[in-house]
Amino acid sequence: MRSKIVGTGMCVPDRVVTNHDLAKRMDTSDEWIRQRTGIVERRWIEDGQSPADLAEGAALRALEAAGLEAGDIDCILLSTLSPQHDFPGTSFFLHERLGVGEIPCIDLRAQCSGFLYGLSFADAMICTGRFQRVLVLGCEVHSTGIEVTDRGRDLAVLFGDGAGAVILQANEDSDDTAGILEVRLHAEGRHAKRLWLEAPSSAHHPVRVTHEMIDDGRVFPQMQGKFVFKHAVTRMPEVLRETLSAASVKLEDVDLFLFHQANLRINEFVANQLEIPPARCMNNIQRYGNCSAASIPMLLDEAVREGRIQSGQLVSMTAFGSGFTWASALVRW
Ligand SMILES: CC(C)(COP(=O)(O)OP(=O)(O)OC[C@H]1O[C@@H](n2cnc3c(N)ncnc32)[C@H](O)[C@@H]1OP(=O)(O)O)[C@@H](O)C(=O)NCCC(=O)NCCS
Repeated sequence: MRSKIVGTGMCVPDRVVTNHDLAKRMDTSDEWIRQRTGIVERRWIEDGQSPADLAEGAALRALEAAGLEAGDIDCILLSTLSPQHDFPGTSFFLHERLGVGEIPCIDLRAQCSGFLYGLSFADAMICTGRFQRVLVLGCEVHSTGIEVTDRGRDLAVLFGDGAGAVILQANEDSDDTAGILEVRLHAEGRHAKRLWLEAPSSAHHPVRVTHEMIDDGRVFPQMQGKFVFKHAVTRMPEVLRETLSAASVKLEDVDLFLFHQANLRINEFVANQLEIPPARCMNNIQRYGNCSAASIPMLLDEAVREGRIQSGQLVSMTAFGSGFTWASALVRW
């Protein structure tokens, strides 16, 4: 038994925020952001929009691409580090929107590697026969959780809002080679505080958040950028190689490489290390910034719709993020 992706979709808000827009609100510049990250603009939600709106848009497009209706799915797995509410998360609000009866849904927390974690768990559930079709999403709204000031500029310029989705379905046709060939997942909790959101925290007594924490900016994400960078450029090639080797596939046989969109420089570094020609990589961080768990499914959807992935081709997807987490998947289309 194997599972295969039968539809992809994405959704971003209409509001475009350029580097120049940010430079009006904090001490930064288009030149600094482009040089260090490759980002030119990102999308941010407007008042009245929610993560569930983006997730719904991505899910409906994926269903349409698969020629299916919401009633055809039997589980929802949504990865996010920015849930609509601490509990029950985002997937439950999406569940209501889609009108999918009483099927199970869950928010998965693996940050920027979240989509590949979700893909792996959905694949395993389908292969055991528990589910036939799983809606797997990555969905983030970062714009309401960053500090758009000089103090928060190191992170504020990086993140964007968006959602990406795939429909993963059982493939019982032995003549059809399409499917998830291999997924490898890793984590290293000892670096949890190198890229994290400290508060609100259920470990903080007697209340989860105080005025002092708000004033000190501890309610905004914090990152040790250089430390994260170094680990990303080490772990990504490592797990990519591990995954290809487990599937007995050579690097040169992969048709398209999709990397998590955290920083264009990280991806260029990884591609250089592995001697992957630019023509076999694709990036969209220039237009969307870092959308964490949503970045890879958004990129995958653009690749499919632009005709960059043809039936029978091999696609490699690799991510690194907070946790730390890192993961890679190899898919035959
Ligand atoms: C974030 C990142 C681009 C910053 O680049 P960097 O070269 O490490 O930059 P630094 O943080 O050392 O800052 C360099 C200088 O730019 C300044 N700076 C930081 N953010 C800035 C901004 N938005 N605009 C202008 N200047 C900025 C710093 O204050 C520092 O100034 P100083 O030299 O006077 O102290 C880089 O560290 C990175 O990409 N890290 C990994 C990010 C990542 O992958 N995150 C998510 C994983 S999912």
